[in-house]
Amino acid sequence: MGRKPLLAGNWKMFKTVGEALALVRKLKVSIGQVRDREVVLCPPFTALKSVSEMLSDSHLILGAQNMHSEKEGAFTGEISPGMLADLGVRHVILGHSERRHIFGEKDEGISRKVPAALAAGLTPIFCVGEKIEERQAGRTHDVVLGQLDGGLGRISKDQGEMLVVAYEPVWAIGTGHTATPQQAQEVHALIRRRLIDKFGPAAERIRILYGGSVKPENIDDLMSEIDIDGALVGGASLTAESFSRIVRFRVPVS
Ligand code: PGA
Repeated sequence: MGRKPLLAGNWKMFKTVGEALALVRKLKVSIGQVRDREVVLCPPFTALKSVSEMLSDSHLILGAQNMHSEKEGAFTGEISPGMLADLGVRHVILGHSERRHIFGEKDEGISRKVPAALAAGLTPIFCVGEKIEERQAGRTHDVVLGQLDGGLGRISKDQGEMLVVAYEPVWAIGTGHTATPQQAQEVHALIRRRLIDKFGPAAERIRILYGGSVKPENIDDLMSEIDIDGALVGGASLTAESFSRIVRFRVPVS
């Protein structure tokens, strides 16, 4: 099933506007010509407008890291889906583990954000992943399936294929401990089966990204796995050198 690889950089709470623009300038040179894969850059909210302008003559795609589910209202400090779309944002990360575990986001709230993003024309990058104690207790499958069911319960069957899903084991995020390609593939296959159960055969087209200490050194092996369709990259997306190499992954011919 020809799924176009998608490489997304999650810049988290890094980069001022000036720093963001300096990085984008370099990325346009190093990966601006890449056409056979999709590249999404997710700067902090404060840099979205400037980065959007700089990407206007590029096919690099603008993403955001979070949003509120409501269109507008008295929600101090929040950003609506429409506000993102208005800036040229096309993808939005939802349910990232840092949102879940540092800021207390729950499946219920995330499940409202998913249809809200779609309604605004944004592609959700919907994140799931287990904590180390859950893996050690043999609960990885339950946790991941529970997050899928809990977060994707409010969209129709037809909307399923518009999603991007990211599997990010919490123990691998920012720790340098990447899941092995086999560990990741096993969970990606589980996710794929559940997506097909929920949304039908069109779910074969959903890209499932791996995230958690993705680096130039491990991207090629990860991308060799059949159900790994791309990567959500944190730390290694902050420099042009490492992110470009990740975007230019090479799958060994077997
Ligand atoms: P990392 O972060 O690549 O720094 O581990 C990934 C993520 O949180 O999306």
